[in-house]
Amino acid sequence: MIKLGVLISGSGTNLQAIIDAIARGSLDASIELVISSKPDAYGIKRAKDVSIPTIALSKAVYNEPLAADLLIATEMQNAGADHSGVDYIVMAGYMRMVRRPILEAFPNRVVNIHPALLPAFIGAHGIADAFEYGVKITGVTVHFANDAYDRGPIIAQRALAVAADDTLESLEERIHAIEHELYPEVLQLLAEGRVSVDNRGKVHIE
Ligand code: GRF
Repeated sequence: MIKLGVLISGSGTNLQAIIDAIARGSLDASIELVISSKPDAYGIKRAKDVSIPTIALSKAVYNEPLAADLLIATEMQNAGADHSGVDYIVMAGYMRMVRRPILEAFPNRVVNIHPALLPAFIGAHGIADAFEYGVKITGVTVHFANDAYDRGPIIAQRALAVAADDTLESLEERIHAIEHELYPEVLQLLAEGRVSVDNRGKVHIE
């Protein structure tokens, strides 16, 4: 059983997929804390609905990015009923960079999901950028976050073919469906202790 802290900024459908996987028993984890970079994120309601503690940070907090991340790291290290902290930080649609205070407190313990096959189409619009480019294959990447934006060690990827009649909306829908399957699966690998990173930054799964 691993303890998770989740970072969100928006609708929180990936957070919901993780909540549902835990409830179904297919993910051996608990979510101890959800922190949102936006006070009005719908994901906060999803967390509150199942009694997960939440913290909503205002935009002003991020005027000092290092102080913001120190605050987040400290909250994550003290989360849980016994204040023993979380094992992993899960970025789920979190639209901010994570910086040194978080990365040093949780080395190789911050995971992110990206809606494209990294290292292609980094950035905030991975699905649209891939669609506009006209790629025939795209997909989803789950990776450890490090100080290089969208460039951390890749844990898992799942591909899908872009159909001739796909619109951006239909592609988005299928990408999100893959995300909602893949993220809980990868977190379960972490829960089983099967994921390691070697000294060249490559991920191995037992
Ligand atoms: C997902 O597509 C994720 O890959 C990207 O932002 C989106 C978040 O969606 N980083 P949600 O908030 O989980 O619904």
